[in-house]
Amino acid sequence: MTVAPAAAPAYDRADWANAFRNVGVELEGVELTAARGAIPAELAGTLYRNGPGRLERGGQWVHHPFDGDGMITALRFAGGQAELRNRFVRTEGWQAEEAADKFLYRGVFGTQKPGGAVANAFDLRLKNIANTHVVRLGDQLLALWEAAEPHALDPQTLETRGLSLLDGVLKKGEAFSAHPRFDPGHHGEPRMVTFGVKAGPRSTIRLMEFSSAGELLADSRHNFKGFAFLHDFAITPNWAVFLQNAVAFNPTGFVLGQKGAAQCLASKPGEQGQFWLIPRNGEGKPLQIPAPEGFVFHHLNAFEEGHELVVDSIYYDDFPSIGPDVDFRQVDFETIPAGQLVRCRINLETGAVQKQLLEPRTCEFAMVNPERQGLSACYGWMAVAEREQGNDPLQAIKKLDLTTGEGQVWSAAPRGFVSEPLMVPRPGATAEDDGWVLCLVWNGARCASDLVILDAASLAEVAVLELPLAVPHGLHGSFAPA
Ligand code: CO
Repeated sequence: MTVAPAAAPAYDRADWANAFRNVGVELEGVELTAARGAIPAELAGTLYRNGPGRLERGGQWVHHPFDGDGMITALRFAGGQAELRNRFVRTEGWQAEEAADKFLYRGVFGTQKPGGAVANAFDLRLKNIANTHVVRLGDQLLALWEAAEPHALDPQTLETRGLSLLDGVLKKGEAFSAHPRFDPGHHGEPRMVTFGVKAGPRSTIRLMEFSSAGELLADSRHNFKGFAFLHDFAITPNWAVFLQNAVAFNPTGFVLGQKGAAQCLASKPGEQGQFWLIPRNGEGKPLQIPAPEGFVFHHLNAFEEGHELVVDSIYYDDFPSIGPDVDFRQVDFETIPAGQLVRCRINLETGAVQKQLLEPRTCEFAMVNPERQGLSACYGWMAVAEREQGNDPLQAIKKLDLTTGEGQVWSAAPRGFVSEPLMVPRPGATAEDDGWVLCLVWNGARCASDLVILDAASLAEVAVLELPLAVPHGLHGSFAPA
């Protein structure tokens, strides 16, 4: 019997790498028409996306794109029309480096200031680059970066108002996650649930819940043994679910100017990660339960089922990092760990965990219908590789039936590269998959970005807008209904 070899990758790496560039313009309300299809008249609200928009200064490239300064792209939809705007977050570091035309700060992911280890040693300042996520809270738009407080922006103009302590909730410089979760109303009104981590030999998680207007409704602190690296979490009506990866942090290389702080993280072979389950009502002790081996940045969703808590996460075999001597634009995808969607059923009575692979294809950036956040959901939408096997850049969108494992795929291959897809329910929808999927796609043929609108149920193409803007591969975003 012969086994057919996996298909060769269908993309040209140069197309993918071309998206790493500096954004040289800030557009102010450019009206767009659909190049194909038509913008749905019922789609009303603003799509906000965040990601690195500045990757080079004075001829020096960032070591890792996550070290690039945050730039917000906003697309406002109303009455079948769309308007585009983009603007850098005016962080203190961005302003100083724009004026100097060189890196004045070290990047967490390994970018060095000019001048070698001597110039970098003992400079332990972090630059709040506001590049990871962007969400609406009250009358503010918040640009998030997990190691420090958010930047508040004007939701219409994207002008930077400045660092925000959220009406005194945060202390200056306090960590505030870039992964809030939006509870659709499990306790009455919708809430934003989020956290901040103070990491050390013992780590503290501060769990916070806000009303949609931005008022602090709940606030609790929990201590755990071990160095916490927590990028994302999940919620159910009763629990906040964290997965503490088995990683060690050895800061010597960072202090001596040889490595970025994140490059000092290393997985601890043979050691197990832990689920940390914190009761959202602040009563009762958190539960600590050994987790399956592997590394997790992002979760899809979590829900409660009898005495079980189910959490779906994107698992990697190991912590994927880029070594000090590697150019990120030359990265060999075959040699780095791929993400796969995994379901863990945690028995809250016995602590037993059952692991099940939900999707073998390489994936990232997964979400359920926002109304199903914290509840069992039929469908997940995610960015996937074009090939069914092997690790490649994300080029397609998949709608996965979480109970049957069946799915539909929309592909931008061979020259298109997708970012995080956002599922937006149709106003008044009753079916879970009634709505649209919005996705910013790097178009390698045009060397610019397209906004693709898909039917969330069938993944049929509804409209494609060719943006007069080249947005580098980005991170997270959100949709704020009108
Ligand atoms: Co993330």
